[in-house]
Amino acid sequence: MAEAGSFADRVKQQADIVRVIGEYVSLRKSGQNFMGRCPFHAEKTPSFAVHPVKQIYHCFGCGVGGDVFKFVQEMDKCSFPEAVRAVAEKCGIAVPEPRERTPEERRANQQRSALVEMHREAAAFFAKQLTATTEGKAARAYLEDRGLDEEAIARFGIGYAPSGGESLVRFLRQKYPEKLIGQAGLASHDQGGRIFDRFRRRIMFPIANEGGKIVAFGGRALGDDTEMAGPKYLNSPETPIYTKSGVLFHLDRAKEPIRRSDFAVLVEGYMDTIGVARAGIGNVVASCGTSLTETQVKLLGRFTRRIIVNYDPDSAGQAATERSLALLLEQNFEVKVLALPAIDGEPADPDSYIQKKGAEAYRDLLEKAPTFLDYLIWRVKHTDLSTAERKVDAISSLLPYVSRLPTALDRSEWGGKIAASLLVDEPILRAALKKAVSERRAEFKIQDSSRRLGIRAAERRIIEILVDAEDFRTHLAGVMKSEALYRGLESEGILSALVDSCTDSGKLDIAAVSAKLDENNRRTLMQVVLERDAAAPATLEEAESCLDAIRNLKGLREMADLQQTIGEQIRRREPVREMDLRLLQRKQLEKELIAIQTEIGLLAGRVSDEIEEKRLRHYQARRLEILQKLGEAAR
Ligand code: UTP
Ligand code: MN
Repeated sequence: MAEAGSFADRVKQQADIVRVIGEYVSLRKSGQNFMGRCPFHAEKTPSFAVHPVKQIYHCFGCGVGGDVFKFVQEMDKCSFPEAVRAVAEKCGIAVPEPRERTPEERRANQQRSALVEMHREAAAFFAKQLTATTEGKAARAYLEDRGLDEEAIARFGIGYAPSGGESLVRFLRQKYPEKLIGQAGLASHDQGGRIFDRFRRRIMFPIANEGGKIVAFGGRALGDDTEMAGPKYLNSPETPIYTKSGVLFHLDRAKEPIRRSDFAVLVEGYMDTIGVARAGIGNVVASCGTSLTETQVKLLGRFTRRIIVNYDPDSAGQAATERSLALLLEQNFEVKVLALPAIDGEPADPDSYIQKKGAEAYRDLLEKAPTFLDYLIWRVKHTDLSTAERKVDAISSLLPYVSRLPTALDRSEWGGKIAASLLVDEPILRAALKKAVSERRAEFKIQDSSRRLGIRAAERRIIEILVDAEDFRTHLAGVMKSEALYRGLESEGILSALVDSCTDSGKLDIAAVSAKLDENNRRTLMQVVLERDAAAPATLEEAESCLDAIRNLKGLREMADLQQTIGEQIRRREPVREMDLRLLQRKQLEKELIAIQTEIGLLAGRVSDEIEEKRLRHYQARRLEILQKLGEAAR
């Protein structure tokens, strides 16, 4: 959070959230807010609101929200300090020299830089092995055999790790301590504690992070299965500069083409990526050495929400496809799937398909790639559907995907399609679909307004006032706190957070408050803040009357409790305390009095006919009566 007076705070004061977010999302003024299509989930109609005065954003669809820094952090996947810096730069605010870090931070930074530098040198070393050694020449023959010419080798920085077992270590030791070489994941220790190369007799694919810095390697064993030592692909372990689940192979080069074309191709392997990129489709990435992770999907989501998944057509690839579908749909990607046809009975991965059929044929198939649902239906149709039971299983396997479709129209269209292609009765299918959708609703607690209903007008208005009224916010918060006025209310969480955050200076950081709230409360707060029309400025009087209403509400609640207690005692034939009865009576009178006073207030001064005149007199009489009784009760 931006501390008062800090650089971050200054940037926040000066930055224009509309301009910053406007660089990522096209925004239109709508009432007091700016609206656009949420960059964090796929949507057709804008539900993403940016408030220019309060300097916050909130999506009514998916519930994300916060201040300008949070937005940049989420969009650019960066840390808070990085976001502050980025916003400052975007808004032309001079950035001070980074403050002195703690010694540990400094050491960790130095270590990371050294590891990155070491990887750069290792990549150069591996590249040189390919040309300068006899062993390397054999490796190059293998690569040529697989269709990789010199140009491709240079373009992707492909290298070779010799079989000796010490050559890289020997090279790196001239410059780096052994310990660091081990930490880089480039070497291992044997049982005697001797250090040796992790990668031996392997074709080396450098793996770069998003910024293009090499942070890891994937090493493919030479030759085919029969002559391999160890796994076909050996990858770098997790290191201080490499987290497998957070890196996508080739993203550093692919991100621009992905942004431009607004879609990405996702393949399984290094060779596939290289093959596809060489076929003129630069917007291709792979998750290397792991199945696709949520982090990777989110990373990709910064560049596009449209993807064609083109995994290997073997069963492992199909399973991986379905796993990745779930993740991608969860992140609101528009997903197509390309399942390459076998060539001469041999299953083809993207690389081998392009080798055999050419780039043109591959691009053609990509263009025709079916949506994920068409793909799934096609898959199901090729399974055994001979019995009713199997059909039901097949449909059940599809429904979770259908129920994820955004609109009822889409869902019904797909329902029809499935019914037609699997030859099942549409009504049955629709019923099943309806069930799946409602189950999914429950699972996701879909953000409808029902959760807002619990909060009453007075609570809602007092939230608005606390947010708005700079002049007397602190006073109001003080009153509410001293009387614990929000205790037991539906909006207790929101009100207590707001009251606690009202500083003596009268300042209030909405984003900071909302960050403290749970999902439900955060949505409610944001709805209250953003959804209303530019309301009339609040007065202290209005605030007091809201507080009265809330006090009254509390009175009513206490009365209801008392009533219940007494009711139970009577039912159980237990003695009822005289005091409780009197208290209840008193509370009931108080309640009636409030109602009557309201009526009198409404009627007073605008009585227009006899009937109203009569009503007014009746209320006044009753009011006197109650006041007398209350006076007696007090005595
Ligand atoms: P594949 O076995 O399909 O390899 O694994 P490939 O990319 O087609 O390689 P070639 O064409 O036989 O040379 C796909 C990906 O799965 C990971 C690698 O990232 C690989 O590119 N993998 C595979 C491993 O991490 N380890 C393995 O042992 C095998
Ligand atoms: Mn493959």
